[in-house]
Amino acid sequence: MSDQIVYLNGEFMPMASARISPMDRGFLFADGVYEVIPVYQQTLFEWQAHYQRLENSLAAVGIINPFDNQAWLSILNKLIASHPWQDQFIYLQISRGVQIPRDHLPQKDLTPTVFAYTNPLKPLAASILENGIKVITLEDIRWQRCDIKAIALLPNVMAKLQAQAAGVDDVILINQQGNVTEGSASNMLMVKEGVIITPPLSQHILPGITRQVIEKLAQQHHISFIEREINQAELETADELWLASSTKEALPICQLNGQPVGDGKPGQVWQKLRAHYQDYKQQITNNEYLKQ
Ligand code: PDD
Repeated sequence: MSDQIVYLNGEFMPMASARISPMDRGFLFADGVYEVIPVYQQTLFEWQAHYQRLENSLAAVGIINPFDNQAWLSILNKLIASHPWQDQFIYLQISRGVQIPRDHLPQKDLTPTVFAYTNPLKPLAASILENGIKVITLEDIRWQRCDIKAIALLPNVMAKLQAQAAGVDDVILINQQGNVTEGSASNMLMVKEGVIITPPLSQHILPGITRQVIEKLAQQHHISFIEREINQAELETADELWLASSTKEALPICQLNGQPVGDGKPGQVWQKLRAHYQDYKQQITNNEYLKQ
């Protein structure tokens, strides 16, 4: 797929031709932010929410947004239309730009480096729909501003490696107080006696768009949804556990630290929510504004 078209600093080009400087602050300092946006039927999903989060991330780190909402839409729609896949996910990244010599203190007038590319978005594998995923709990060693979608992801990468070494798919991160924060690249939700429970938004988790959609759908369909801290010990008596992200939607966790979750199969609330989520995706793809 190295001949696919990417966007870099004002131009569309084959991925193999895309070049950035080794002095880019994204490369040297992980000084940048990113977004991952799903695309269904060639239509951006929850664009306004992703755009708002991008603005929040940029503002938090003091990088000026290089484009307005409409300019971003036209870049991303061109990227989407350059590829045949109906369902895609876009990765976009803005770093603070190139600075010579290397200095922790950013120069004031840097031009941000803007990169975006798209990937085919595959549906969840049948084995996951049937058997869910396996996770372990792990200490959350990340920084105090996980609400910023920063490109500095080394602790997340290390968590994924630890999951792999343990023979499981992912992790649930636990903070110093013994409470759940989130997954390595997803939010965490628990179901207990028919109620969906998830940790409240704070500087310690990413305000996930999938989590937000799940909340909206739960409200629409009269499924109780509450935000409160979840203690690690509670996970063991949960009826259902889910991880939620743009690329995986809601994923059922069926094994936690070697033990089955609930009856060891994806739960009923997840089944219901998944059906509502598929309907919602279908409705959204009729939104013409997003295709401009
Ligand atoms: N990750 N928490 C973390 C740490 C994440 O990295 C993500 C998403 C989420 C879920 O956010 P959303 O529902 O908006 O995708 C929560 C993306 C998919 C990634 O890094 O690839």
